[in-house]
Amino acid sequence: MRSSPRRIEKIIEPEPVTEGAGVRLKRSIGTERLDYLDPFLLLDHFASSDPRDYKAGFPLHPHRGIETVTYVLWGEVHHKDTLGNSGSIGAGDVQWMTAGRGIMHEEMPQVRPEGIAGFQLWVNLPAKLKMTKPRYQEIRSDKIPEIKKEDGARIRVITGSVDGVSGPVTGIAANPIYLDVFVPAHASFIQPIHRGHTAFAYVFEGEATYVDDDKDDGTKISSPRLIILGDGDYVKVVTGATPVRFLLVSGKPLHEPIARYGPFVMNTEEEIQQTLLELRQGTFVTT
Ligand code: FE2
Repeated sequence: MRSSPRRIEKIIEPEPVTEGAGVRLKRSIGTERLDYLDPFLLLDHFASSDPRDYKAGFPLHPHRGIETVTYVLWGEVHHKDTLGNSGSIGAGDVQWMTAGRGIMHEEMPQVRPEGIAGFQLWVNLPAKLKMTKPRYQEIRSDKIPEIKKEDGARIRVITGSVDGVSGPVTGIAANPIYLDVFVPAHASFIQPIHRGHTAFAYVFEGEATYVDDDKDDGTKISSPRLIILGDGDYVKVVTGATPVRFLLVSGKPLHEPIARYGPFVMNTEEEIQQTLLELRQGTFVTT
């Protein structure tokens, strides 16, 4: 069968949201307009040089039934959790946390001259793994391979693979791809994506054309925008006079029922009620 490009299915403008103890961010998945992009539950983009927008952070809070993925572009986030992990992640670092049956953690952006910028993505867990043992992967920037293409494109591979080079985050149920892609002016980028997997691009700097067919005419997208890609075998991006930088993320959809309550995402309302009961009784599993 001939391979086909993934066409743009929907373009979403991120919404301003205040979250945690008062962090201002842009949300493009997990809103009224797009409550779920199976298996992705939430995508937040934080970027500010004003400490009032971020310093209140995300004090101690629980999670169950999901994975949270934090990718820092610049600045620093201190974290501490009930698995015994503590430290800070900085520019280019990734924290991929599988909450499973339960974790409590705090995520506190530090006031720095450069401010803070980055992303948090929530990936749903399949029913059979919702109560799995929590797992924490912290990947330093220098452990994330960067592929340099001849035309100047640079791709940081967090998970998935590009040109045979695999990212350091492994063993994730959704078999995801998570790439940070920079394409200079007058260049192009092509990446295969598993047919049947959900895929999106989040354009956060510059602009590019997402090519809809074999000809180089497509839809020009300027940052910040979330682009939901339809099914197909690959995505193709072409730049004009302006470079572009975007996240390219894909994952296997679960097709399972969802019961969602804040930081808990389960399959049934009973499981949510059970989680809340455990929290009230102090029996929420956190190790
Ligand atoms: Fe969290």
